[in-house]
Amino acid sequence: MQAMTDIHFMNTYHRIFGGFTEMMAPYLMASNNSPIKVKNLQKYYSQLNPEISLIPQLLSNDAAGMLHFASLLSDLGFNKINWNLGCPYPFVTKKQRGSGLLPFPHRIDEILEHIIPHVKAKLSIKIRLGLNDKNEIIPIIPILNKYPLAEVIIHPRTAAQLYGGTTDKAFFAEVFPQIKHPVIYNGDIIRKEQVSEMEKEFKGIKGYMIGRGAFINPFITNQVNGMEFTRSEALAKYREFYFELHHHYKSKSVNTLGFLSHMKELWSYFSQSFEKGDSYFFALRSINDATVFEQTVENIFKTATLTY
Ligand SMILES: Cc1cc2nc3c(=O)[nH]c(=O)nc-3n(C[C@H](O)[C@H](O)[C@H](O)COP(=O)(O)O)c2cc1C
Repeated sequence: MQAMTDIHFMNTYHRIFGGFTEMMAPYLMASNNSPIKVKNLQKYYSQLNPEISLIPQLLSNDAAGMLHFASLLSDLGFNKINWNLGCPYPFVTKKQRGSGLLPFPHRIDEILEHIIPHVKAKLSIKIRLGLNDKNEIIPIIPILNKYPLAEVIIHPRTAAQLYGGTTDKAFFAEVFPQIKHPVIYNGDIIRKEQVSEMEKEFKGIKGYMIGRGAFINPFITNQVNGMEFTRSEALAKYREFYFELHHHYKSKSVNTLGFLSHMKELWSYFSQSFEKGDSYFFALRSINDATVFEQTVENIFKTATLTY
């Protein structure tokens, strides 16, 4: 998740909770005139715990730029790369990137035709149902089926929904068997029971991708793998996770407001882990002093009740 799941977040999550078979890096804008330098990419990725299987992600509608980045990433040792056809934000979609490409299946076809024969790494695709209409995915399926892809990750919302409303599981159930590649479901998974229900509902599904759920219920991977914790064990684990992030971002920030603004963004999700979470978030949101913020968070871990 752009601006949230950076390398430090991934390393910390892996050390304290673990359980993800793969993690996806926030997208790289892969155009031919991108200012990103190989040296910086290499330095950035080298900080990742080597036990983590990381999938880099490209956001682009520019076949030459994608080819350039995909080759760089293959040379850095990544053997799977994801193409983001799901980003729903208008500043991305109006340039026909992310979900903005979904109404143009022929452009998706052209880009795949251009890059697939030349990319060493396997290509994974992340997709929404459409930009404005869920049926936009229908003509895209035979195109995806023409190429050798590693997998297709579907977030069954349209981009117009952003993150509102509900995911369309019934429509997902109808379309996913038409895809000949392994399919991964993504969207609103917070509890392990949702995964068990989907295991029954979506026969043949390859797996699940979890985004916000890893913030709202950081125990999700442990719970799916059958681990249980007492209340005090869970709070201690969560506290350790949180303060590892807190101290890291504090040490890297150039000013308090920037640091607190990042922590508040994280707390917009972490607060939902707790009963009466809205009131905790409301309190934290108004704090502009790092010490007071830290003490308020300490109090939450001492007194709060976890929801999941
Ligand atoms: C703040 C934020 C940043 C995101 N950044 C990315 C991104 O860089 N690449 C991507 O594929 N999805 C991104 N997503 C979408 C998530 O990966 C996921 O598809 C979406 O949130 C639905 O799954 P969830 O309900 O498990 O979060 C982002 C979502 C949020 C809320």
